[in-house]
Amino acid sequence: MQLLQTRAELLRWRQAEPAPLHFVPTMGALHAGHAALVHRATQTASTGAGLPRVLVSVFVNPLQFGPGEDFNRYPRNLESDAALAASAGAAALFAPEPAELFPGGEAELTRLVPPDSLQRGLCGRQRPGHFNGVATVVARLLGLVRPQRLLLGEKDWQQLVILRRLVADLGLPVQVWGCGTVREADGLALSSRNRYLSPEQRAQAVALPRALARAREQAWGRPSANLEALSAEVAAELGQAGLVVDYVEAVDPHSLQPCPGLGRPVLLAAAAHCGPSRLIDHVFLMSRQPIVAIDGPAGAGKSTVTRAFAERLGLVYLDTGAMYRAVTWLVRQRGVDPGDATAVAPLLENLDLRLSTAAAGGQQVRINGQDVTEAIRSPEVTAQVSAVAAHGCVREALTRQQRVMGERGGLVAEGRDIGTAVFPDAELKVFLTATVAERARRRAKDLEQRGFPVPEHAELEAQIASRDHQDASRTVAPLTQAADAVELITDGLGIVAVVEQLVQLFRERVPEDAWPEPQA
Ligand code: PAF
Repeated sequence: MQLLQTRAELLRWRQAEPAPLHFVPTMGALHAGHAALVHRATQTASTGAGLPRVLVSVFVNPLQFGPGEDFNRYPRNLESDAALAASAGAAALFAPEPAELFPGGEAELTRLVPPDSLQRGLCGRQRPGHFNGVATVVARLLGLVRPQRLLLGEKDWQQLVILRRLVADLGLPVQVWGCGTVREADGLALSSRNRYLSPEQRAQAVALPRALARAREQAWGRPSANLEALSAEVAAELGQAGLVVDYVEAVDPHSLQPCPGLGRPVLLAAAAHCGPSRLIDHVFLMSRQPIVAIDGPAGAGKSTVTRAFAERLGLVYLDTGAMYRAVTWLVRQRGVDPGDATAVAPLLENLDLRLSTAAAGGQQVRINGQDVTEAIRSPEVTAQVSAVAAHGCVREALTRQQRVMGERGGLVAEGRDIGTAVFPDAELKVFLTATVAERARRRAKDLEQRGFPVPEHAELEAQIASRDHQDASRTVAPLTQAADAVELITDGLGIVAVVEQLVQLFRERVPEDAWPEPQA
């Protein structure tokens, strides 16, 4: 691993190789939490760009310390930092002196001021000017390092929100990745400042994660939980353990504004003094597990990417299109006119429709005890599914069943009306689409792979356009993009790239601390 101390050395190192560059800024005193960030940074973006090189910076930034704070005694040990960064997989460590970063001095330096709404609460209230200092130094570092990806710990949640906003507002060409908090076995979040604690204070400090974890348990399954009461209980528990509370606040995790209730995940954050250390920690209060809604027109490749995305994040995959196909299969099997709602309705009484994971990993669909996994993909079912799915009685029956399946959350549902009608409070809504020509190409490939005859390309395009029209113009729950959905156009993108974008969108909304990725 290379040690770089000047801007010139950094520049030379950057230019030596074209590999993607991932960046982990730190103030040193590195610990296993930093090592986890570096390790994550070594992972590729999976877009074929090659293995990234990871740069770690160590700079105790004077701009982010207030008067009377611990700038002078902040632990500094470049040798052990270099050893830890190297063993975690960093290719270089950038450890500049202040004069290297701010050659014009600090007095006249241009400073960045993140929005007041993001810094007037939580740590910002207790540490005025702190986030201006963080934003200024990180913008300066990004300007020098020019990484493709910036990795930050979720432990400093307010900092992560502010830096994400900085990157978005200034249009900086870097992806921001938050990584889950790393904890000691007893739950204490790792922090460079834990080393100030005596053994007695260390034992006392564990009251912080314990009180927060208790609040999280109390909120689970209770959308009407009283957030003020929960915060007050945490503060009381910290006081009883001998910690001096700075704040305990329940806010929206993204706007950092007070929030009325637990309809969506809530950040419960706390800071408390334990002897010489100021400890911070948080939990995400949720009344259910997260839900992702992926809607879009037929043939946009939703099933393949949704399945892969669900597996990557340990979410259950709910293919609602398969449910409509299964009912269409039943309609055909019973010889019922697919356009006649009154004839279709009786088939929905006592309907036993089950989705499960097949032994081979794919999704199995059974209707009234019969396995129809393959049969529902036939061109005949494809041709009639939009007509059957347009009936109010069909939509009502299946929407009811889907909502029951989603009561506890923890799923990705894919369909036409998930974000608008089935799960309007999903944490992430995506409208996945592609041009008609691209979808016709994909449909031809799929039919070929399944051994069905492949119509002419123009005919496939016409079928797809007609299905789009039917889906978008039906009276009940038509296919439309939810106002708060993100549109993702997949033309020219491979499956891996689309899944990568979905993961990025999910992580911007649902932190790893709230929903960790399953261990491989
Ligand atoms: O989180 C930290 O260590 C610092 O605030 C950072 C992001 C390196 C800026 O000095």
